[in-house]
Amino acid sequence: MEQIALIATATFGLETLVKQELNALGFADLRVSEGKVEFDAGLADIPRTNLWLRCADRVLLKMGEFTAVTFDDLFEQTKALPWEDWIARDGRFTVNAKTHKSELKSARSCQSIVKKAVVERLSAAYGIDHFVETGPDFTIQVALHKDMAQLTIDTSGPGLHKRGYRAEAGEAPLKEPLAAALVTLSFWNKERLLIDPMCGSGTILIEAAMMAQNMAPGLNRTFASDEWPIIPAHYWQEARQTAATAVQPIPDLQLQGYDIDPAVIEIARSNAQKAGVADAITFAVKDVKDLWIDQQYGIVVSNPPYGIRLAEYQQINQIYMALNKIFRKKKGWSIYILTADDKFPRYFKRARPDRVRKLYNGTIKVNYYQYYGEKPP
Ligand SMILES: C[S@@+](CC[C@H](N)C(=O)[O-])C[C@H]1O[C@@H](n2cnc3c(N)ncnc32)[C@H](O)[C@@H]1O
Repeated sequence: MEQIALIATATFGLETLVKQELNALGFADLRVSEGKVEFDAGLADIPRTNLWLRCADRVLLKMGEFTAVTFDDLFEQTKALPWEDWIARDGRFTVNAKTHKSELKSARSCQSIVKKAVVERLSAAYGIDHFVETGPDFTIQVALHKDMAQLTIDTSGPGLHKRGYRAEAGEAPLKEPLAAALVTLSFWNKERLLIDPMCGSGTILIEAAMMAQNMAPGLNRTFASDEWPIIPAHYWQEARQTAATAVQPIPDLQLQGYDIDPAVIEIARSNAQKAGVADAITFAVKDVKDLWIDQQYGIVVSNPPYGIRLAEYQQINQIYMALNKIFRKKKGWSIYILTADDKFPRYFKRARPDRVRKLYNGTIKVNYYQYYGEKPP
């Protein structure tokens, strides 16, 4: 199996960052569309991309794509694909389906048609009519969009946000790929001071520490395709070995995280410990109102709480006013705030945001307000 097509899926708004990451990993001819980046790869790239992609949600193996307006179309063309090249004789396989703006409107029916087609294909290929399903996992996805069916197998298993360091979450933690994206978009680099004054479980700073030290985000976990017989075990071993030796510890990173809640600071510390970056970040309990900044240059990346109740509104207004007071005259500071609250720019009066990027935090529409500071000399 020389060439395969992989699809890195991403939350809406992060596709271009995933494209950049794939570029950096050496892939060319990247096809970007909403929520995904498709690219040609080799088998060894399944371990590599799963281990290294920070801003993506999953890596899918593309099996085929075709027009399907009837269930017969879907069945026959699914059955024509070489499922036995991938799915082991004892493989455990499930099918997920979604359909959007298509003649075939019932996701449930699409799911059972695809399952039936794959079963028939594998029965013929392996000469069996009973599947023990005791082996590795293969999650097939059929996605119909405007009558175009795309069939994939998920190589990742649990989403790539599961880095293995967050056994504990604070309130409303950011997903790791989004936190990595916020850091990337902030142009922070390892020589510069980065503060998250409302750090919660510490995700933004932990992702920054991992990025700075070239730690592959997937190094502490396994993936569904770890067990796939088609991928030689040494591909995985080599990819993990390369990732382990790529780590470059940096003793003097300037990463600081504060939060008003002592319990979440404990969680942040414990998460950083699990991620292997505890030495790189300083965490402390602090109300943002008491934050004292004496450095001329630095970067803030944070997502403040956004409230629904009146009491929360008042608390949030105070946070905004505190940020405004601290950073209004500090032109050497770049401020990056992720919030669903579009009142933020009214309170932060240093200037109009240089850029407002629309992103999604889970299912919530949010804005990433970006205020560029002067660069250090
Ligand atoms: C949306 S959460 C941040 C989540 C974080 N990014 C994470 O990934 O876990 C907002 C945080 O702001 C903190 N917070 C609320 N008011 C604060 C204040 N006045 N000063 C500092 N932190 C505050 C909360 O305790 C909460 O942890």
